[in-house]
Amino acid sequence: MVACSAASARIIDVLRSLAIANYRSIRELVLPLGPLNLVTGPDGSGKSNLYRALRLLADAAQGGIVASLAREGGLASTLWAGPESISRRMRSREVRIEGTRRKEPVSLRLGFSSDEFGYAIDLGLPTPSDSMFSRDPEIKRECIWSGPILRPASLLVDRRGAHVQVRSGDGEWESINTRLATFESLFSRVADPARAPEVLTLRDEMQTWRFYDHFRTDADAPPRQPAGALVRTDTQENRGKVSSNRKACDFRLVRASRHSAMRDAGVNLRSG
Ligand SMILES: Nc1ncnc2c1ncn2[C@@H]1O[C@H](COP(=O)(O)OP(=O)(O)OP(=O)(O)O)[C@@H](O)[C@H]1O
Ligand SMILES: [Mg+2]
Repeated sequence: MVACSAASARIIDVLRSLAIANYRSIRELVLPLGPLNLVTGPDGSGKSNLYRALRLLADAAQGGIVASLAREGGLASTLWAGPESISRRMRSREVRIEGTRRKEPVSLRLGFSSDEFGYAIDLGLPTPSDSMFSRDPEIKRECIWSGPILRPASLLVDRRGAHVQVRSGDGEWESINTRLATFESLFSRVADPARAPEVLTLRDEMQTWRFYDHFRTDADAPPRQPAGALVRTDTQENRGKVSSNRKACDFRLVRASRHSAMRDAGVNLRSG
C-alpha cells in the first residue's frame, strides 16, 4: 500500500493520523501515522478497507466521494454491518459478532490530520422520502481545523448540510453564500481565497496524493501472459561476446513480448 504526497516541500508533509468510523469492517479507528507505514494482517482483517478509506478521503478533494461510494454499492454495503456496540462476550469471542437491527442513526466518518490542518467528513442516509435517490448517501458535515487536533477553538471551516461557515480573522463565524447540494463536498464548490483559503490549500494538497495500486492481476493481465523469463546468458558460447563487451554477464529478455507486457503494466525494464 502506497499513498504519498507527490512533491517534497509541501504544506502537509506527513499525515499524522487517519480516523475512520463505520466503514466496512472498521467500526472505529484512529491510526497514528509516520512517514512510512506498513500494514500487515491476516486475510480479511481489513487492510484493504483501510486503504479504501484513504482513497475515499482523496475522492472528497476531487468532488467525487458520493459517486465513489455509489460505485462501492452505496452506504448499504459500505457502512459497518455489525452491531451498534461490541459486548464483553463478543470481545472475548464467546459470541459471534453479527449484525442486529439498528436503533440509532449511523454515519460513515472519515478524517485525517497533519501538523498544519485536519479534515473530517460525515456521510449518512437521507431522511426517508419517496425520492428515487432516497438511498444515496448525503454529506452531513465537513470540518477543517488548524493543527493536528480538532477542538472548537481550532475549527476554521464548518459545513452543516447545505450551509458553510468560515471563521474570520477576528474569530467570528461568517456564512458563505454558496449552498451545497447533499452530494457536493465543500472542496467542489467553495473557492474563496480571501475568506476560506484553507479549503483551497487543503484541496490542492489532497489532490497531490497518489495511489499506486493499479497493477492488473486478472487472468488477462499482461504480467500473467505466458512469456519468457529474464535469464542469465553467460554460457560458454556467449562468454566471448561478454568479455568483448566488457560485461561481467549478459542479462537478456528471451522474448520481446514479455518486455512489452511489463511495460504495459507500468514496469520499466532495462536489459543489458
Ligand atoms: N459493510 C461491512 N461491514 C462489516 N464488515 C465488512 C463490510 N464489508 C466488508 N466487510 C468485511 O471486511 C473484510 C474484508 O476486509 P479487507 O478486504 O480489507 O481484508 P484484507 O485484510 O485486505 O484481506 P486480504 O489479505 O485477503 O486482501 C471481510 O471480513 C468482510 O466481511
Ligand atoms: Mg486486501
